[in-house]
Amino acid sequence: MAFPSIRARRLRKNPALRKWVRENELSPADFVLPLFVRPGKNVRRAISSMPGQYQFSIDLIVKESKEAYRFGIPAVILFGIPSRKDDRGSEAYDRDGIVQRTIREIKSKVPEMIVIADCCFCEYTSHGHCGIIKGNKGDLDNDATLEVLAKAAAAQAEAGADVIAPSGMVDGMVKTIRAALDQHGFSDRIILSYAAKYASSFYAPFREAAQGAPQFGDRKTYQMDVANAREAMKEVALDIKEGADVVMVKPALSYLDIIAKVKERFEVPVAAYNVSGEYSMVKAAGRNGWIDEKKVALEILTSIKRAGADFILTYHAKELAKQW
Ligand code: PBG
Repeated sequence: MAFPSIRARRLRKNPALRKWVRENELSPADFVLPLFVRPGKNVRRAISSMPGQYQFSIDLIVKESKEAYRFGIPAVILFGIPSRKDDRGSEAYDRDGIVQRTIREIKSKVPEMIVIADCCFCEYTSHGHCGIIKGNKGDLDNDATLEVLAKAAAAQAEAGADVIAPSGMVDGMVKTIRAALDQHGFSDRIILSYAAKYASSFYAPFREAAQGAPQFGDRKTYQMDVANAREAMKEVALDIKEGADVVMVKPALSYLDIIAKVKERFEVPVAAYNVSGEYSMVKAAGRNGWIDEKKVALEILTSIKRAGADFILTYHAKELAKQW
């Protein structure tokens, strides 16, 4: 032959070669496990819209965290279902609120686990919005919400949270939380901002899981328009300027372009949230025998990593890590 034969398939000939040239290798070390905590003891309540996921009482959350750590998962993110909701979501900043108690328990029983506290109000407010509402069916009151967010972040840090993750898309949330943490002597805590969070229909199963569906209206005045990409860069830049250490893109699968752009433009670690709807679709199709659930989940998570995510919040975490 006069010229070298061009063959890309040479590198795919067998598993050893494929592994040798693989660009991205997913592992349980990339996962963050989301956990829903509810009051009680020895309670494990199935979430019907998310097969395989549960609301657990604190004692069982500790058990879950222990197992997850043993399977190689380095971090959990906590969502609380309070025993009582009110219009200010006061259990979110109560020293003895459900999440604060859970953080203390995990940090005392599984100290190596990185504990992330989701910092938002929709699970705690009677109206289901992510903060304080103006008037009786009004808009989210930005400044009033910042005040309670500062209190919630301080309470979570005081309980021992390693990472505070504001998820409400409230203007100035990162700056306010950074100031509150500094003021209370928690300058060492990490802020993981849900910086580019879209007003997505993929959150529906989560709203059952966390019992935080808005009782009126929607979240479109604070979460981003699905059609926008450049705006996500603006949101991320703002949050980094305000003091975010890590930024998140959410959801993940329909937003791989956003993950890739954020990774390219910014120098901070990028988290991606493989959200409830993305999980439940895989589960539903898997249960019907239409797809191979495990293979599809791994393919999706690999694509999120390939797009640029440094870690992935995913409900698949424990089941996959267990059989790694
Ligand atoms: C609350 C919050 C939501 C999710 C995480 N934090 C719901 C929402 O914004 O409506 C969604 C996570 C998921 O769907 O898995 N601010």
